[in-house]
Amino acid sequence: FSISGDCFVPNKIKLVVCKDSSAAALDAAGRIAVIVRERSTPVIGLATGSTPETVYAELVRLHREEKLSFRNASTFNLDEYVGLPSTHAQSYRAFMQAHLFSQIDVLPWRTHLLDGTAALPALECEAFEKRILAAGGVDLWLLGIGGNGHIAFNEPGSPVDSRTRIVALTPETIAANSDGRFFSDPAEVPRAALTAGIATIREARRVVLLATGAKKAAAVAAAMKGPFTESCPASLLQDHADCTFVLDEDAASLF
Ligand code: PGA
Repeated sequence: FSISGDCFVPNKIKLVVCKDSSAAALDAAGRIAVIVRERSTPVIGLATGSTPETVYAELVRLHREEKLSFRNASTFNLDEYVGLPSTHAQSYRAFMQAHLFSQIDVLPWRTHLLDGTAALPALECEAFEKRILAAGGVDLWLLGIGGNGHIAFNEPGSPVDSRTRIVALTPETIAANSDGRFFSDPAEVPRAALTAGIATIREARRVVLLATGAKKAAAVAAAMKGPFTESCPASLLQDHADCTFVLDEDAASLF
């Protein structure tokens, strides 16, 4: 289905507020670990950005110290920049290799990222959706949120029924990603990305959105308390059957 304008749905999002960003990351990592331990062939959706870095550090610790094994797990990442080869330090493939994949026992061929250098992006996106289906769907998708409410590279205005596709980055997102954490000059940031769609994300059996810091407070409040609207992509999780927002106190400060 698709929606026009704003509407109100019964908000089913569960809220967990932790005292600080580390506690929030540990909570989110624990939720992933439960799925990895419970399912015989767990399928985990992953995100990049600053927020999940501590989550991945905790998953690595659980692997090393508490025998958490990813041997039977498959992973799917939300997005990838168009034009960056996997060898580029700022590609999301390189981020995932550095922060997680190279430090756990996941099998390389079960780590799925969109290929930003694919000659035919539409086919690449279609193949990604098929790989999710073939894996049996995503058990849990870890998400971040942009200051403008985006999830993955689904910027405000992204249709609720959107699927994996090529999108243009907004000036806001380009600025956020060139503040020195990832790129230091806006000119270096790719202008387009391949991203899982809102419908792709909504189909995950469980969604965990992790947000920390005061910069996310307005977007979190809009997603949680505002209307179900494509103007705030994260609000399109309100009617998901199993979605939890894991926040620190700063991100929850506008409630
Ligand atoms: P961040 O990005 O974790 O780097 O803040 C989150 C996002 O834009 O989804």
